[in-house]
Amino acid sequence: MVSLEEVNVENVELKKEKKKKKKKRPIEEPEAETAEVEVPKKKKKKSKNITEEAENKEEPEQEEEGPFKKNFYTMSEKTTAMTKDEVKAYQAEHSIVLYGKGKKTFKPTLTFDELGFKKNIMKICGKFEKPTPIQAQCWPVLASGRDIIGIAETGSGKTLAFTLPALVHIKHRTSVEEGKRRGPIMLVIAPTRELAMQSQEVLDEASNLVKITSVCVYGGVPKYTQKQALKAGVEVIVATPGRLLDLMEEGCCDLSQVSYLVLDEADRMLDQGFERDIRKIISHTHPSRQTALFSATWPDSVRELAHEFLKNPIKVTIGSDDLAAGTRITQIVEVIDDRAREARLTQLLKEYHGSRKNRLLIFVLYKKEASRIESNLQRGGWNCTSIHGDKNQEARIQAVESFKSGKIPLLVATDVAARGLDIPDVDYVINFSFPLTIEDYVHRIGRTGRAGKKGISHTFFQSCDKARAGELVKVLKDANQEVPKEMHSFDLNIKKKEHKLYGSFGPKDYGQPMKKATKIVFDD
Ligand SMILES: Nc1ncnc2c1ncn2[C@@H]1O[C@H](COP(=O)(O)OP(=O)(O)OP(=O)(O)O)[C@@H](O)[C@H]1O
Ligand SMILES: [Mg+2]
Repeated sequence: MVSLEEVNVENVELKKEKKKKKKKRPIEEPEAETAEVEVPKKKKKKSKNITEEAENKEEPEQEEEGPFKKNFYTMSEKTTAMTKDEVKAYQAEHSIVLYGKGKKTFKPTLTFDELGFKKNIMKICGKFEKPTPIQAQCWPVLASGRDIIGIAETGSGKTLAFTLPALVHIKHRTSVEEGKRRGPIMLVIAPTRELAMQSQEVLDEASNLVKITSVCVYGGVPKYTQKQALKAGVEVIVATPGRLLDLMEEGCCDLSQVSYLVLDEADRMLDQGFERDIRKIISHTHPSRQTALFSATWPDSVRELAHEFLKNPIKVTIGSDDLAAGTRITQIVEVIDDRAREARLTQLLKEYHGSRKNRLLIFVLYKKEASRIESNLQRGGWNCTSIHGDKNQEARIQAVESFKSGKIPLLVATDVAARGLDIPDVDYVINFSFPLTIEDYVHRIGRTGRAGKKGISHTFFQSCDKARAGELVKVLKDANQEVPKEMHSFDLNIKKKEHKLYGSFGPKDYGQPMKKATKIVFDD
């Protein structure tokens, strides 16, 4: 199937559990975003400055060419009337920076009607007051047919930023092609099953307004229904890579007509865990496609690769250029000993979850750790469930549903739930175990403080996490958050990342030798 993440490690885990020593982090394989990979050969790196200098060069706009119409944007009178100073003021207020050829032609659209899209399409924004900054700035770019890299904080509306212009693109093609086309027009690839399902729900909502059909292709469930939907014909596929490749190999899925491609959580999709699959999938899409990459984090390690899939892109960043931590999240960090964590967690639950009703998400690293914390909390009388890769898909969906509906207000999760999940009103995120990369930290805490709301994250930081101390302190400082004085006992120099999965999660941290390169095993 699909995707992701989960590495098959049970035998190893059993042996390791036995050896576990008190003060050391358990050596179980971390869940999700951390599959083992072949150690890559060092490539010559293009300097970031050179890439960005090139991106900044102005060039006259060119006539549209190629088999697909991609430009559907005419700047409205209202947008045109915006003065340079007004554009600059809006961009400064929201820390928006554009890179790329022709960037100055893309003024933000501050209201929905400025886009000039049909009413039925705009209904998808009906419940919102105005575009978020990433939408305001990305819609004109995407609707003009340009490739894009969009980086903006968690919970800032990136899904609609890439979905709304897609609807115009799709509707145009369906109207001119009338039954001649084989295969989908739009493909969205996401790293986890639950995120793929969530994005497809947004498209499903749109389908009631503009009559498009979509299917979510993900693993852990039988293929039959997905195959039937593909056979009947769909305009959009939202997929996790493993199952999509499976279905492609079985001849059930022809991507040759895909002209609008989105990699959601693009940095994750381009890291070593997924790179090979993504290359294969993209090579089957139409070469004249439009490509959109979106995330809240954009580490150096994926930038060069990203440009292989993009043509003359515009890059839009809201806030930081590489790590856009949620600005509405109060980040609390507590330096703590391993053995003190469980008792402290119970104390925090009494404090943060006194009502026993508000939603609270607890992140851990390992599948077994998730089960253990879940059982311990249940034994302590807390109403809680969990999501991790040892659970079957039905149980995973059930856990997210119960959490979303409020039936079960505590969710213990591995990093399968770190990215993209939009669960309303999660008041608190507790990091029981610190994640392996600072990017994961930003995504995890971003499950709270979404869509303009406030949230609190409370993070346990142990001495075994010291390799990430410098990066964490930088994130805290950049977001004007308090840095606990105990953090200063660690070396706060930011270490060069040693591993292509952006974190350094092998050698120094756990006193273990670097993990041996092995093939990634997805869960199906
Ligand atoms: N213009 C808008 N005004 C207010 N809320 C919006 C707007 N657009 C989208 N939203 C809502 O904001 C929430 C977060 O959106 P979304 O999931 O797209 O965020 P994201 O930027 O993709 O976050 P992440 O980085 O975590 O994936 C959703 O509930 C969505 O319905
Ligand atoms: Mg998202």
